[in-house]
Amino acid sequence: MTLDDMKRASANAALEYVPTGATIGVGTGSTAEFFIEELAARPGLIAAAVASSEACAAALRAAGIRVLDPAAAPYPLPLYVDGADEVDPELRLIKGGGGAQTREKVLATAAELFVCIVDDTKLVERLGRAPVPLEVMPWAAAFVAERVAALGGRTAARPRFVTDNGNAVLDAMGLDLSDPEGLEVELDAIPGVVECGIFARRRADVVLVGAVAGVRRLSGRRTP
Ligand code: A5P
Repeated sequence: MTLDDMKRASANAALEYVPTGATIGVGTGSTAEFFIEELAARPGLIAAAVASSEACAAALRAAGIRVLDPAAAPYPLPLYVDGADEVDPELRLIKGGGGAQTREKVLATAAELFVCIVDDTKLVERLGRAPVPLEVMPWAAAFVAERVAALGGRTAARPRFVTDNGNAVLDAMGLDLSDPEGLEVELDAIPGVVECGIFARRRADVVLVGAVAGVRRLSGRRTP
């Protein structure tokens, strides 16, 4: 079984949570793309989708799925399905490997149920193996880098990367993630930071983990 098989299996398992005829939020990344393929194979299952990025919107449209403008979507959404870069045992996440964490966090927070789909390489005992992506106003990047250094971290500007919102991404490493909620609040409070990739305040409700042995379901505080 390949990594892609595991991603596909977790994406397939997420179908169980899709309310027929609903408008749902759809995430960004390779695992979310497998979920879009699953939706494409079931025409009419959903009425429409709200995309977490321009890449996601393009994939949804190519799959024949109606895409709603996030500025005019019917909130709250019943469901948001997305991947993650890291998942800890409390279902807190690091996201933003694709630089889409701002819209992803809005849609996850706007959803009554957040189902996260991953392969088992994404599970960690403690967040922080992956860098924490920060979407920043481009002109504030040097200032934000200095503030992250004051918190004990270091940053690398993502080269030649511009977010869908026209901003830059700094990948922060070396930060103390023993209190992910506290660090999320602290990073998001730095002026010039649009959104950080820690999803601790709005963590996943369900994580579907694709593995060689099958798909394992981890559930947190809210389950369907
Ligand atoms: C996109 O910005 C990210 O948050 C993705 O959800 C994350 O990087 C997971 O992507 P993969 O499914 O490609 O690993």
